[in-house]
Amino acid sequence: MEALAEEGVRFFTEVVEGAVEARGRCMVALSGGSTPRKMHALLAQKPYCSGIPWSKVHLCWGDERCVSADSRWSNYGRAREDLLDNIDIPIGNVHPMPGHLLPEEGALRYEKEIPEAFDLVFLGLGADGHTASLFPDHSALEERKRRVVPVTGGDPDVPRLTITFPVINKARNVVFLVSGKEKAEMVKSVIEDHEPHLPASHVLPASGSLTWMLDREAATLLSKETIGA
Ligand code: 6PG
Repeated sequence: MEALAEEGVRFFTEVVEGAVEARGRCMVALSGGSTPRKMHALLAQKPYCSGIPWSKVHLCWGDERCVSADSRWSNYGRAREDLLDNIDIPIGNVHPMPGHLLPEEGALRYEKEIPEAFDLVFLGLGADGHTASLFPDHSALEERKRRVVPVTGGDPDVPRLTITFPVINKARNVVFLVSGKEKAEMVKSVIEDHEPHLPASHVLPASGSLTWMLDREAATLLSKETIGA
């Protein structure tokens, strides 16, 4: 997990550098769940954090559970603990999803807060092939206009907000961070079999980069050709 987190930090730093040089700021969407927590913690530690111009970095979320920020289920709450409380980032650069509002209202509000195109979107992969809070067989998968929608489902099964594929596939860089042998089957189904019923199979950036960062366990079922690709 350490090497995966370090790889994520390296990529984050690289994208920030390029975006700040090109556009004066970097717009990032963090993912939730447990996998990115180590990377978030590393981003707050020297020497990793030293090279990041936090005043030029904006942190958003790709999805959020509509719970209090103090709840253990809050993606923002976890990132605050692991990263935000430990870096010098202006409060105006941190854009938590408004999980305290009615989901429909929160979705409409957050759509106005996120950029036209993210420089970097981090994604996780659920064991059912979901990503962000885009769950199998959910109508949100078909959304092509709205950029943030309310959904329910997942674990915990609570109301959520999620960015949609139009946002993900417009990003300049998309990174999946996946760890553990329990994800190996799903990683293969998405990366090699491109199974269409799996939401993660529809992460296809129009012109941005797509990177899979996997630990050895999560990559265990991939062919040598895929790994070498
Ligand atoms: C969420 C996450 C979700 C997550 C995957 C993987 O809010 O649930 O954003 O998409 O990335 O479920 O979660 P783990 O990293 O905990 O396995």
